[in-house]
Amino acid sequence: MEKVISDIGVISEKGIESVSAHRDSNTDRKRKLYIESYGCQMNFSDSEIVTSILAKEGYETTSEASEADLILINTCSIRAKAEQTVRNRLNHFNGLKKNNPDITVGVLGCMAERLKSKLLEEEKIVDMVVGPDAYRNLPELVSQVDEGQRAVNTFLSREETYADISPVRLNSNGVTAFISIMRGCDNMCSFCVVPFTRGRERSRDPYSIVNEAKELFSKGFREVTLLGQNVDSYKWSANETLPWKAQIEKINEQDFVNFSQLLEMVALVNPKLRVRFSTSHPKDITDDVLNTMKRHTNICNYIHLPAQSGNSRVLKLMNRTYSRAWYINRIDAIRRILGEDCGISSDMIAGFCSETEEEHRDTISLMDYVQYDFSYMFIYSERPGTLAEKKLEDDIPEKIKKRRLSEIIEKQQEISLARNKKDLNKVYEVLIEGTSKRSDDFLQGRNSANKVVVFPKAAYKKGQYVNVRINDCTSATLIGEVDV
Ligand code: SAH
Ligand code: SF4
Ligand code: F3S
Repeated sequence: MEKVISDIGVISEKGIESVSAHRDSNTDRKRKLYIESYGCQMNFSDSEIVTSILAKEGYETTSEASEADLILINTCSIRAKAEQTVRNRLNHFNGLKKNNPDITVGVLGCMAERLKSKLLEEEKIVDMVVGPDAYRNLPELVSQVDEGQRAVNTFLSREETYADISPVRLNSNGVTAFISIMRGCDNMCSFCVVPFTRGRERSRDPYSIVNEAKELFSKGFREVTLLGQNVDSYKWSANETLPWKAQIEKINEQDFVNFSQLLEMVALVNPKLRVRFSTSHPKDITDDVLNTMKRHTNICNYIHLPAQSGNSRVLKLMNRTYSRAWYINRIDAIRRILGEDCGISSDMIAGFCSETEEEHRDTISLMDYVQYDFSYMFIYSERPGTLAEKKLEDDIPEKIKKRRLSEIIEKQQEISLARNKKDLNKVYEVLIEGTSKRSDDFLQGRNSANKVVVFPKAAYKKGQYVNVRINDCTSATLIGEVDV
């Protein structure tokens, strides 16, 4: 998370075919789009929707910001550092704009939504500010900038799900893809800016989700990850107005679809299509979902279940609406229904408002109890406008936050290594995603539990399933050989 990836890809033929309104008026050449994404997978997925919308307007993507006519930066506000990274990038683009004043620079995503037109005042280089629900409006906003104005649209919608837009897959390995199933978040975790930047929760039509999965499978993709801030609260009912609904082929038509039913619908697309999902919320994950996972072997045996803290008082202050005991009950249900091998990961926040040493140790003891395969671990960063910023004091000194974070990281590394060692001599089915990052002689993929597995290349190809016997490991990777 919060990693920096410049992700540009090849535009599908379908994308380039259509209208080409946005051409350079002097040369009639296609305009070039450079798009850079930060933050969570939802943002990366949105950049694929944005690219699709602009491809229909005749834009071609480029991986070189210096040759772009339009530079878009899809931003994250989750922690102060994420926003600082974006500001540094804007500074960098400022240099390019000095050489070529015709470049249009647009800020998209959560920081655009949070700061709105203030961003135009604070960052002179910015021509356009576009919130996550306003991407359909991009062609008009670009035209406004062409006419010499600066453009802002940060309207948050209660309906927009971009269900009918076929994303242009960026930076794709051709094997794994993300499918956005809902937008927004109706929880109000006191530390979190997402409800303000992404708006109200809404679920996408299940039939358009199934169609997207089918299309991906037919193009050779073998794994989809269903994305939402809280996938367990996915709910869709046929009463919702969907003008384009009549166009979709319907399987098993139902009037009401919850997350467990959606999972099943996607799993039934093809037994060779792996299905993953993220993120689950401890208050909402049901035994029903766990049982659906058990029934379908192609639904991966892995759950990302962020705890945030292991202490009930802190969880209450965070407004997570579950206690330590509730969380442990959910973990016990996962182990009972899906077994010890089920991969579990978490997000943890160190040094939340008023957290004592003892409460911090409760987080570590929860980690010991659950035995997470890995975690994303963060220092608490106060965000403007959140409940915590308004009501609680950010009173843990930076030095203590850092020390607590490093203790959490150290604990996780110890547990990850122990969990990986338990996999030695086991054989796992691995979906090959490509060449190993460390060596061209090795391939890498993941097992059902989401662990990265590396093995000698031989004649195997990406997109294939192979059985790998694990014979070595680090805290981050399993290493093995194909078991023939
Ligand atoms: N919807 C997901 C998480 C989205 S944000 C969920 O509910 O779990 C991803 C992670 O960023 C959160 O799980 C949390 O651990 C972290 N995070 C969010 N706000 C933060 C803040 N203000 N400071 C530090 N970490 C934060
Ligand atoms: Fe933020 Fe909580 Fe919503 Fe996750 S569930 S996005 S942490 S408010
Ligand atoms: Fe960041 Fe927005 Fe995602 S704040 S984590 S990009 S929803």
